[in-house]
Amino acid sequence: MPETEVVQRGLEDVVALESRICFIDGRQGRLIYRGYDIRELAEHSSFEEVAYLMWYGRLPTRAQLAELQNLLVSLRVLPKPVVELIERIPPESNPMEVLRTVVSAMALSEPGETKPGASSISGALRLTAALPTILGQFHRRRAHLPPLAPRPDLSHAGYLLYALLNREGTELEVRALDVALILHADHELNASTFAARITASTLSDLYSAITSAIGTLKGPLHGGANEQVMKLLDEIGTVDRVEAITQAKLAKHERIMGFGHRVYKVEDPRATILRRWSHKVGEAKQDLHYYDLLVRLQEVVHREKNLYPNVDLFSGSIYTQLGIPHDLFTPIFAVSRITGWTAHVLEEYDDLRLIRPKALYVGPTDLTYTEIGTRS
Ligand code: SDX
Repeated sequence: MPETEVVQRGLEDVVALESRICFIDGRQGRLIYRGYDIRELAEHSSFEEVAYLMWYGRLPTRAQLAELQNLLVSLRVLPKPVVELIERIPPESNPMEVLRTVVSAMALSEPGETKPGASSISGALRLTAALPTILGQFHRRRAHLPPLAPRPDLSHAGYLLYALLNREGTELEVRALDVALILHADHELNASTFAARITASTLSDLYSAITSAIGTLKGPLHGGANEQVMKLLDEIGTVDRVEAITQAKLAKHERIMGFGHRVYKVEDPRATILRRWSHKVGEAKQDLHYYDLLVRLQEVVHREKNLYPNVDLFSGSIYTQLGIPHDLFTPIFAVSRITGWTAHVLEEYDDLRLIRPKALYVGPTDLTYTEIGTRS
């Protein structure tokens, strides 16, 4: 084996490409979108403003932001064939599979967006605006309720909450969801973004790239972890049971969802912010049950495995307090990450290079073909 061919399993620490979208300092626990620290964006910005930043590389003026908001609102309405498709999807379907299926089907209504390499911010806008409507319509479909008419007067986060729960959120609830959407918007070459870039690097279209990304995000080691965290908390039940149940799982070499990260060697800065919001929302609801469980769980996992929380540890406790069902948590991750995915696809098209790593072949190379009758 030539000495240059060293396998980096999982492409760990492999630098695959240059990007101007997102910088992660895994040792300092810093996350930067287009030059801006997410702590500042979470404090002062909105999801719409961050979407503009992702796609255009700069913060919008007031007029540019207003134009983007109007465009997103106008695109919340789904094409009729897509509405009809959602109404035919079995109510018991997995919401991530619904998102993957419907996004793929949307391409059939947008022929201009599916030519090889066809991609423009219009496709990014279309998908960003549509995901809350798709999710909301399916969630109502499985409750055997008719689709809601989109609400042009609500912000993106406010509309997402309304589309899912058929109620307007309080200012605190909408802001908590807005911050969560900001924090999930991008994260450099995570698995789902890399999947989108691999697809785009073949000059395939935006919808195909996003379909790849949604299928990748669905995995419990990636976007699916936030849902698994809540299952664990419901299994644990009370703070006094955290130690024993966690120890038992670790003893069986089980992974505790919401902890650890391929890049962060300290606490994920998003977890720091989401922990604060989990407390804020829990305090407002006078129910810190999940927050207290998570803080205790964090203490035990850090002491036992020297692992830190990642973005998925606290997000579910916030969504649960808002009344959002667990199986919609990963789809909400996609509602935000669609902005990062589409920004990366646009960047790939601008600086296109087919993504094609090598494998180190370790099988035989000199076998002789035998007739089927002689084989055992
Ligand atoms: C996201 O990439 C991104 O940026 C993703 C993301 C994004 O914004 O896009 O940040 C979103 O996906 C966050 C991660 C969500 N996933 C989980 O919470 C699932 C649980 N976490 C792990 O599966 C794990 O930490 C990963 C997958 C996140 C990272 O795993 P690595 O880098 O491949 O680390 P590893 O599997 O090699 O583990 C190293 C050691 C192992 O111990 P040993 O077998 O060597 O003794 O740490 C242990 C692991 O067993 N370990 C854990 C653990 N995570 C790692 N042990 C218990 N619980 C865990 N969660």
